Amino acid sequence: MGDLMVRTVELIERKRDGGRLSAEEIDHLVQGFTRGKIPDYQMSAFAMAVVLRGMDARETAALTTSMVASGERLDLRRFGRVVDKHSTGGVGDKTTLVVAPLVAACGAPVAKMSGRGLGFSGGTLDKLESFTGYRADLTTREFLAQLERTGIVVTGQTSSLVPADGRLYALRDVTGTVPAIALIASSIMSKKIAAGAHAVVLDVKVGSGAFMKDRASALALARAMVAIGVANGLAVTCELTDMEQPLGFAVGNALEVREAIATLRGEGPEDLVRLVRRAGAEMLVLGRYARTQVVALARIDRAIADGSGLAKLRQLVAAQGGDARLVDDPTLLAKAPRVEVLRASRTANVAAIAADEVGLASVRLGAGRETQGAPIDLATGILLRRKVGDRVERGEPYAEVHCGGLPGDAAAIEQVRSAFGWSGATVRRRRLLLGRVAARR
Ligand code: URA
Repeated sequence: MGDLMVRTVELIERKRDGGRLSAEEIDHLVQGFTRGKIPDYQMSAFAMAVVLRGMDARETAALTTSMVASGERLDLRRFGRVVDKHSTGGVGDKTTLVVAPLVAACGAPVAKMSGRGLGFSGGTLDKLESFTGYRADLTTREFLAQLERTGIVVTGQTSSLVPADGRLYALRDVTGTVPAIALIASSIMSKKIAAGAHAVVLDVKVGSGAFMKDRASALALARAMVAIGVANGLAVTCELTDMEQPLGFAVGNALEVREAIATLRGEGPEDLVRLVRRAGAEMLVLGRYARTQVVALARIDRAIADGSGLAKLRQLVAAQGGDARLVDDPTLLAKAPRVEVLRASRTANVAAIAADEVGLASVRLGAGRETQGAPIDLATGILLRRKVGDRVERGEPYAEVHCGGLPGDAAAIEQVRSAFGWSGATVRRRRLLLGRVAARR
């Protein structure tokens, strides 16, 4: 065995036995793997050791630093304090489509690299591509030029950023090594740090439709990410928010875009509006564009009321080659050929809407994908007509299933039907905001 191989085995064994690795040792693994010198089988063994043994804060910070160093790191200082947000993903989460334009309309440059949907989780880029022609593959040069010109950019991650994560994530995906706080936190935060924003508002979703199923693991992830951000000089806070039921009413790309536009017009669903106001205000305060939450909230509200948030979305769509007419006339967005309306068979209160089931139904309808790169149908999805805590009279609609004519349509309709839980007794509305983690001062 060569020296590199021997050393790598030692490091894997140490982690397997619960030991700690130094920053230099972690860097050896990350750079060796990224350059193809450490083979997949060794890196998978190491990732599994981390799943089983974990990493402490110092190791997690070192892992993140190495991942950032594997590629380009954008320097956005000439734009002032640039803000960004990140959600760990869920069902019906169209927050970026609303909050990014609102915050940019309040004068804070927003530079965001987003992802695509996978499994029951939707992706911002897919949603934005509901605007015909929207380009989600800007080069670094185009990214910077657009930020300069418009103060807002939302695109896919460029390949030069954190190549280590691209390789490691693909490996984790097929080796059962995704669920480790240190690996998830470093994966997310390395991309945020490399993308160059100065202030980042994180949202860890908690519940059946989220990556993190319970509050304790969500809190651990939130704390790990905030600690990494602080160690790297970012202003960062993290909200914990409910994903036991979908966010808002719409699930599916064009349907969600329609709801985002309605929200920018001041006609959004209550939970989405709350989240958007909260995240938007946090971004303005962290970015130092507002001194207090109260002032920041007032500015977000004004950007909704005076239409400047909607104008910013129009500008974003046009700048990235999309058809901005769809912002003003959402009836032009893709529409599914068939809408199945689900009606209550008896009068009852909605006790649950299983977010994962609704998300999986949307995948069956073609609105999401099971494998990376698979094509999707922008028009299909689910429109909830009621949320947890609402009463539905017999015969009233509680959901619409927008079908594209796929063989899975009938099963998807049944899945949406069975995602609803009912109760004869009054049901309390779900709490949306479940916690917040901020840097210690
Ligand atoms: N999202 C990421 O970007 N990385 C992970 O490891 C998990 C979710």
